[in-house]
Amino acid sequence: MIKVTFIESNGTEHAVEGASGQSLMQVAADNLIPGVTAECGGFLNCATCHVYIDEAWFSGLPAVEEEEQELIESAFHVQANSRLSCQVELPPELEGVVVRIPASQTS
Ligand code: FES
Repeated sequence: MIKVTFIESNGTEHAVEGASGQSLMQVAADNLIPGVTAECGGFLNCATCHVYIDEAWFSGLPAVEEEEQELIESAFHVQANSRLSCQVELPPELEGVVVRIPASQTS
């Protein structure tokens, strides 16, 4: 299992674990992480799975595909380390990854 820490915009941390090959969105859904509603179920139609990947891990991720990039640009509060969590699979190299949830996705 791979450790993942989700941090809400209010600073609340959720330390959870996911299986290698799962998407970050699946890990968030399995653990009922607030702010990752993933309304389209991972089919690149909603951007409600938008997250920020901490820099220590961001640079090691596969490049963003064009379709994901277009959808990221439609999200609120986009940053250089923005990704759609349904498009980020968990390889072992992401052990300990820190994932922040944009303020626009928390109520
Ligand atoms: Fe809809 Fe990721 S869950 S785009």
